[in-house]
Amino acid sequence: MKIISFDTDNTSYQMGITDDGFLLHLYYGPKTGCDMDYSLTMYDRGFSGNPYDVGNDRTFSLDVLPMEYPGYGNGDYRSPAFSMRDSSGVQGADLRYRSHRFLPGKYGIDGMPAVYAAEDEARTLEIVLADETAGVQVTLKYGIIPSRDAVTRAAVIENISDSTITVDKALSASLDSLSGNWDIIHFDGRHGMERLPQRDAVRRGKISIGSRRGTSSHQHNPFIVLASEETGEDYGSCTGLMLAYSGNFKAEAERDQYGLTRTGIGFQDEMFDYPLAPGEKLETPEAIMIHSDEGLSDLSQKYHALISEHIVRGPWQHKRRPVLINNWEATYFDFTGDKIVSIAEQAAQLGVEMIVLDDGWFGARNTENAGLGDWTVNEEKLGGPLSSVVNRIKDLGMQFGLWIEPEMVNEDSDLYREHPDWAYTVPGKKPVRGRNQLVLDFSRDEVVDAIFEQISAVIASADISYIKMDMNRSIMDVFSRTDKVQHYGKTMHAYVKGVYRFIEMLRQRFPELLIEGCSGGGGRFDAGMLYYTPQIWCSDNTDAIDRIQIQRGTSFGYPIQTIGSHVSQVPNEQTGRIVDFATRGIVAQAGTFGYELDLNLISDEEKEEVKKQIADYKKYWPLIANGSYYRLHSPEKDTETASWCFAAEDKSEALMSAVTLDNHCNNPVSYVRCRGLDPAKMYHVEPVLGADTQPLELSGQALMTVGLPVPIIPGEYKAWQWHVTSKDTDNLNNKEN
Ligand code: GLA
Repeated sequence: MKIISFDTDNTSYQMGITDDGFLLHLYYGPKTGCDMDYSLTMYDRGFSGNPYDVGNDRTFSLDVLPMEYPGYGNGDYRSPAFSMRDSSGVQGADLRYRSHRFLPGKYGIDGMPAVYAAEDEARTLEIVLADETAGVQVTLKYGIIPSRDAVTRAAVIENISDSTITVDKALSASLDSLSGNWDIIHFDGRHGMERLPQRDAVRRGKISIGSRRGTSSHQHNPFIVLASEETGEDYGSCTGLMLAYSGNFKAEAERDQYGLTRTGIGFQDEMFDYPLAPGEKLETPEAIMIHSDEGLSDLSQKYHALISEHIVRGPWQHKRRPVLINNWEATYFDFTGDKIVSIAEQAAQLGVEMIVLDDGWFGARNTENAGLGDWTVNEEKLGGPLSSVVNRIKDLGMQFGLWIEPEMVNEDSDLYREHPDWAYTVPGKKPVRGRNQLVLDFSRDEVVDAIFEQISAVIASADISYIKMDMNRSIMDVFSRTDKVQHYGKTMHAYVKGVYRFIEMLRQRFPELLIEGCSGGGGRFDAGMLYYTPQIWCSDNTDAIDRIQIQRGTSFGYPIQTIGSHVSQVPNEQTGRIVDFATRGIVAQAGTFGYELDLNLISDEEKEEVKKQIADYKKYWPLIANGSYYRLHSPEKDTETASWCFAAEDKSEALMSAVTLDNHCNNPVSYVRCRGLDPAKMYHVEPVLGADTQPLELSGQALMTVGLPVPIIPGEYKAWQWHVTSKDTDNLNNKEN
């Protein structure tokens, strides 16, 4: 068997090509240092067909062997990565190896997000598979980034026949694990409660998650982890499959009849039905695979590094983001230019660096029911042109940001009255509304261009530093007026590419602009968006206690400095919960820090706290942005206290944060165990926040093994924070000497 293999710093990837050209998956995991084809076994398995080419050998069946890019049509009945129909409706293809080559550098994907790397940091592997009878060629692409232990994958499907073929299913990556008991961890939720980890054993049958909403969605996230049963935060084998895509997707895990586990991620295949004309190509989004043998913390940290260094782009990639205040929860639609300036005046005095004017500044947008699509400044409401408000903000020494929702239209808008055909509605059918709005057909260039012209004119009219780009409903009634025959999958993919094109045009026209993604909070929080927007509003739920869960779940795949997080008022607007100002502060600090309330309405003591929070955020930003993030508590087991920490890569310091959750009479004491320290070093432990704590001198071992006791004090949702710094000259070994 001919073997194709490549390595990253800590992992190996191997494939085998059989004599008949079938591409088998041999291995992905820690380096083994030997060929892995020995692991394949051949037995005659009833009802598992045999390719014609192997003659009377009934022991060779693609129904039981591990496959690299399994396609329906060659005897493999398990869930395929690829399936198609030819022009007469014949289902299936028999993909065989044709060629492969390694290239320097990392491939890109036209008009789509993809991991980037310097020429000497990465390699590309291309493997060409084809079935000339079915009329299809599939080029598998692999991006190898050794220093990040990352392998990216995408497939390019090309119609090489002279009639139209239809792609029914096209995953970006499929991964067969020959044996073992695996769990799949996925990140699910709902509007306001996104990305809560759920861990399920992969048993016989299939677990499948995904989105049919047109966005990656609040309900599921395009990221799964395949973890061995015993894997925890600190130990165990785990492999992540993350899709850099912001539209309909599917991720699945299936355990077959002989215990092989097949995992995959890529385009959603339900209703996909993607036609390809002769010569036409379809390129799948990119899947990013990372393997760790050292548990989920290590896996997360590797994803954080990969996304921060190889997905996020632009001038804001490594810069601390301005501490902002957003007016949404303070005013909703009910504001004037003066009101915005008054919020900014108070905020500026306390050290806030930017004000963001949220929804309601344009057209007739005084309620949710009107105005979307009319991106002209409501000068009456603002008391003058946008620049007059922005100049007043600038005079306060602050920057100015603006909210937009370009993909949407209200029926009550001039845009809709003029171009009703630009919205997705099916002729003769009453459309499904979401938040009383319709979705514009962003698969059409002229629609994207027209909205871009309107919005870019507004941005150019004033000194605008930041844009919050929102998307507030799930898509339905997809009907593109330019196509005679409707193909849902094709239009939805073109829609997502239209959204990417829109943001890319914004980036090009205004290169310094900081853009924050948003979709009703975290409904489009994915690596695809992070290629265009270096941060995403994590959730519409600003309740600090709920946010602990939401941000913890988000941290499995996404870096902390991409997570939009703000201090808001109490009782909280979404839950009615009352949480200390300090607690709201340290939760928001584990993200891109800001405020979402009117600071004129808080007490003088709280105003002092704002100053301290901002000073702390600036002080600890390097540690938050560049340190390793550790989830310290498990919500299932540690119900009394939540905790997390940031540890410097050189183990010289850490910032530990804790929040008490359940409060009961006569509570046991919670201990917060740090991670990421040097066990042999002595550390100074300085309380930053919280009652009843004193400075301590402790070893890394003590801090990581026993941890710090959280004082029992009356009241719910109290916060503690400690800054741990090493005393380099005074390490334990020296002491023993
Ligand atoms: C969405 C966003 C909010 C706010 C509103 C405005 O819900 O997530 O933060 O911008 O829209 O309509």
